[in-house]
Amino acid sequence: MNADPGNAGLRLRALLAARGLEWPAEIEHAALSPSTNDRLKQRARARAAEWTVVLADAQTAGRGRQGRRWSSPPGNLYLSVLLRPAPPGARWSVLPLAAGLAVAEALAAEGVESSLKWPNDVMVGGRKVGGILAEATSGADGLESVVLGVGVNVAVRPPDLPPEVAPTVTCLAEELGRAVDRVEIASAVLTRLTVWYHALAREGPQVVQAAWRARAVPWWGRAVEAQSGGRRVRGIARDLDEGGALILELEDGSRTVLHSGEVREVRPAGD
Ligand code: BTN
Repeated sequence: MNADPGNAGLRLRALLAARGLEWPAEIEHAALSPSTNDRLKQRARARAAEWTVVLADAQTAGRGRQGRRWSSPPGNLYLSVLLRPAPPGARWSVLPLAAGLAVAEALAAEGVESSLKWPNDVMVGGRKVGGILAEATSGADGLESVVLGVGVNVAVRPPDLPPEVAPTVTCLAEELGRAVDRVEIASAVLTRLTVWYHALAREGPQVVQAAWRARAVPWWGRAVEAQSGGRRVRGIARDLDEGGALILELEDGSRTVLHSGEVREVRPAGD
């Protein structure tokens, strides 16, 4: 439980140590932050070390992908972690997928089986339980830093979220029928993220892609509709490319690659 929320940063460090991980950078904890991603981007500009973490009990200006608001009342997990991938290179574009994978694995360890919906929504029974907001900064030499923001619905029940999102989301407490420690979830996510990060550095993006595919919602070969960069595309979900982009096969048999956007399955009429 979050019996001592003021000490969530210290607790997180202790839980990581108990998993055998001496966390190599600062873990900043705030009771209330506008957005942990914004705070960490500010820290990154001031040369914060790789693996610096910002954890908040609540956010006043939480952000989701596609410029959406991320409702952030107390009880859920709001965490951002700074990476400085080196050497720069294409392999790092799958980092957001690795983060989604880390969340799915952390939830599995807690007893919740989830699936990943491209690009990186974490879903349970068709409802969203978590999401990743990855924000990269590049310089003259290429990629300089990536802030991975992780939001997981832990304790806030859907009716207590804004009505426009309530029907499409779930939370861990609801799925498990018991309270869940969000700091414990944070430590599991960070632990799995370090594993994928090192695997990615060592073995390349294929290792993340394969694991991500294995946890993906079962859309391969099915009709989907994507809203991407102001256009709407319908096609058959075929695969991920090397960089983690989604490959769709269009009606005329050609293929298109989506780098961002929102995708939903199109069920045949009568289904
Ligand atoms: C999404 O699915 O749209 C991504 C949601 C990401 C939310 C997290 S909460 C911690 C971090 N800080 C933010 O402002 N956003 C991310």
